[in-house]
Amino acid sequence: QITRLEDYTPTPFAAQRVEMVFRLFSDRTEVETTTILERRAGIDAAEPLRLAGDEIAPVRVAVDGAAVRPEAMVVDENGLTLSDLPASGSFALTIGTILEPARNTKLMGLYRSNGIWCTQCEAEGFRRITYFLDRPDVLATYLVRIEADRDTAPVLLSNGNLVDSGDLGGGRHYAVWDDPFPKPSYLFALVAGALDELADSFTTASGRHVKLGIFTERGQSDGAIYAMDALKRSMAWDERRFGREYDLDVFNIVAISDFNMGAMENKGLNVFNHKYVLLDPDTATDGDYAGVETVIAHEYFHNWTGNRITCRDWFQLCLKEGLTVFRDQEFSADERSAPVKRIASVRGLKAHQFPEDQGPLQHPVRPSQYREISNFYTATIYDKGAELVRMIETILGRERFRAGMDLYFERHDGDAATIEDFIRCFEEAGDIDLSQFSRWYFQAGTPTLSVTQDYDAGAGRLTLRLAQALAPGAAGTPILPFHIPVRFGLVGSNGQDMEARPAAGAPVERDVIHLREPEAEIVFEGLAERPYVSVLRDFSAPVTLKDDQTPADRLALARLDPNPFNRWRALSDLVGATLVRAASDARRGSEPEVDPAVVEALVSSADDEGLDAALRAQMLSLPSESDIARLIGEDVDPVAIHRGREAVFVAVGAKGAQRFAALGDRLATAASFSPDAASAGRRALANALLDYRAAAAGEPDLASRQYERATNMTDRLAALAVLAHRFPGTPASEAALAAFYRRYETNALVIDKWFALQATTPREDALEVVKSLADHPKFRLANPNRARSLVGSFAAGNQLAFNRADGAGYRFVAEMIHSIDRLNPQIAARIATAFRSWRSFDAKRRGQAHEALAELAARPDLSPDLRDIVDRSLG
Ligand code: ARG
Ligand code: ZN
Repeated sequence: QITRLEDYTPTPFAAQRVEMVFRLFSDRTEVETTTILERRAGIDAAEPLRLAGDEIAPVRVAVDGAAVRPEAMVVDENGLTLSDLPASGSFALTIGTILEPARNTKLMGLYRSNGIWCTQCEAEGFRRITYFLDRPDVLATYLVRIEADRDTAPVLLSNGNLVDSGDLGGGRHYAVWDDPFPKPSYLFALVAGALDELADSFTTASGRHVKLGIFTERGQSDGAIYAMDALKRSMAWDERRFGREYDLDVFNIVAISDFNMGAMENKGLNVFNHKYVLLDPDTATDGDYAGVETVIAHEYFHNWTGNRITCRDWFQLCLKEGLTVFRDQEFSADERSAPVKRIASVRGLKAHQFPEDQGPLQHPVRPSQYREISNFYTATIYDKGAELVRMIETILGRERFRAGMDLYFERHDGDAATIEDFIRCFEEAGDIDLSQFSRWYFQAGTPTLSVTQDYDAGAGRLTLRLAQALAPGAAGTPILPFHIPVRFGLVGSNGQDMEARPAAGAPVERDVIHLREPEAEIVFEGLAERPYVSVLRDFSAPVTLKDDQTPADRLALARLDPNPFNRWRALSDLVGATLVRAASDARRGSEPEVDPAVVEALVSSADDEGLDAALRAQMLSLPSESDIARLIGEDVDPVAIHRGREAVFVAVGAKGAQRFAALGDRLATAASFSPDAASAGRRALANALLDYRAAAAGEPDLASRQYERATNMTDRLAALAVLAHRFPGTPASEAALAAFYRRYETNALVIDKWFALQATTPREDALEVVKSLADHPKFRLANPNRARSLVGSFAAGNQLAFNRADGAGYRFVAEMIHSIDRLNPQIAARIATAFRSWRSFDAKRRGQAHEALAELAARPDLSPDLRDIVDRSLG
């Protein structure tokens, strides 16, 4: 059943006020919901009220206190329809439901995680708690009373401010929470349980005193100290950068161990996967610290972009998600290193969004139809959505962009808005027509941008020819030319941008070329020497760039470009081409040839003291095997990719042996652990070197030594990865894996890393290890983090073994997905997206993948979530 954007109409009834009572007992939860409703103006008196409901049953339905007659009420699989309601004026609808949270394995609605009661309502979970107008354009204020045993649930939380609490006798107590801000039901939250609190406070720019609390399972609140620090920095940043202040007297966060996604921005009560809260140097990597900072910021920023201004319908999901990702990326860029953050974001975009945009799961940033909305929390909505906001900023410039944001906040505060509303704010504030630009929201696919150059030395004239093209894709959306902002510079041999005059009338503003036509020719005059052309700086548009640079040009840009992002890209393009060639050599059965100039460029980038360590680590980190597969595009042979990549690794490690050893020793002398960006950058560089050195040495001693001596998880896990991935099955690797397991047996988040590491061993026989790990006593299909750590990591992160030519990888994953689907359809559907690139592999593998998918599709009992992904993947 398909939901379509064009069918949007407001609900015939509006809800203004919701009052709920939750009575929590060990075996059940009783819920009583009273909603004040009113027929909207112009709605016929005979029009019934249709409320959504999912896996619930009504125990009592009353209007203004009088029970509804059975003839006026129809219950079906998708909800409840009431007729015979007051023709005008408001009325109170009361509905009782009884839930069994402990049996809710879908983790949508109210469920129990390690004994803690908690909720997840986005997108359509509230209808699993009560019958409701469960859509984002129905905004109401909420008053929530929670009753529970004081022993099992000393802490009772919901949205807004605590207005009452007390004892009920018999070991029971209650709390009442009042949320004054009208909100859609997807932002509702309730948490109850035996939790510890890390308490702090923040005073906003205008002087509001806000109580901050991070709640964790007993004994874990010290793990939230860094998260709390990140929260306070986020609050201050949003005031500074966007003039946005927090608006309630409390802001609470709860860390939960069973959670489908990263976290959720419920008003005043964010609920988090504990992975994005709990940290300490002994158990968390630098990547984990950065992840916590990002997700804490992201959910906090939603308070304005998502909550104060929400979405009219789920087609507008990118209105809050793309914008909020953009905001959290800007926050991380300001708090850490802007170029390093940009490189990491772009690598992520290319690794996750590009394959989605170029395969059977393709959809535009603003889709116009869906079968299951849970399947649209995608890299396209989130990450490409953020790129579109970034392009608006590039086109308008920072000041006019801020004016557009201010207008958006002012005009739409309290609204359920659309993408069109958002764009209009920038058109007005920027005094610009963005209608062509807005195609980025509606047309799916990754356009190709070609740039060729022609330099006339005699005339001192450079001609750039730009062309854009978009291939038709699975989404079937239109293919009209985009407005592509191309940030650029013309780099002189002294490493500085040259002054050059664009010809009169050329679509060039400051350092941005505005490509609006399918093709354009841009002439620059007054050049004293041939410049190195640096285009698409900072990845100013989400395109695939094709250019005619020579390897010598790229090597020069990798050394000279004043734009650090493009320095990285110049080298990365060379390395990418080298890896593609190495793979094709390996496929032909010959020894991969590796260009010594590229090897030397990689080696010397490690030593470039002009760049911070984190940037050098990025330069040294080779594209992944799946990145290389994407560069190759079709008829992919993962075995050849792996062999070719290893050959490059060994060549760089051998060439750099001495310099890497010397640099590695210098970096290793850092004293005590600090998670700051500079220290993390040094660890990233040192661990990149370790991998090369181990590859060249061909034996595990170096990594074993680092494993023994490591004083933090970053260094310990990096050493373990080298041992497990480069030397699997050796005594050194087995001993380290066993020691790691013993040391962290009781820490779920670290044991997830242990599973994931083994699942991603780049060997075809990793499948056998993964199969035996699926029988490990600590493997739990019902815990999303654990299921992802083994099955998700294997399917999405082990190209070699998942795509085994005998099809065993596909069959294993399909079977696991099917088992997970019976417990938790969202997780099953998410893991199934790993099949999205199956058509790009060679014929043998394509056949196997098709068979596994078709077999899965033939099962009669798939959830709608999984069926949607499987059907679209088969195309
Ligand atoms: N809005 C949340 C976030 O991005 C994600 C919630 C997704 N939930 C889901 N069931 N798909 O911060
Ligand atoms: Zn979000």
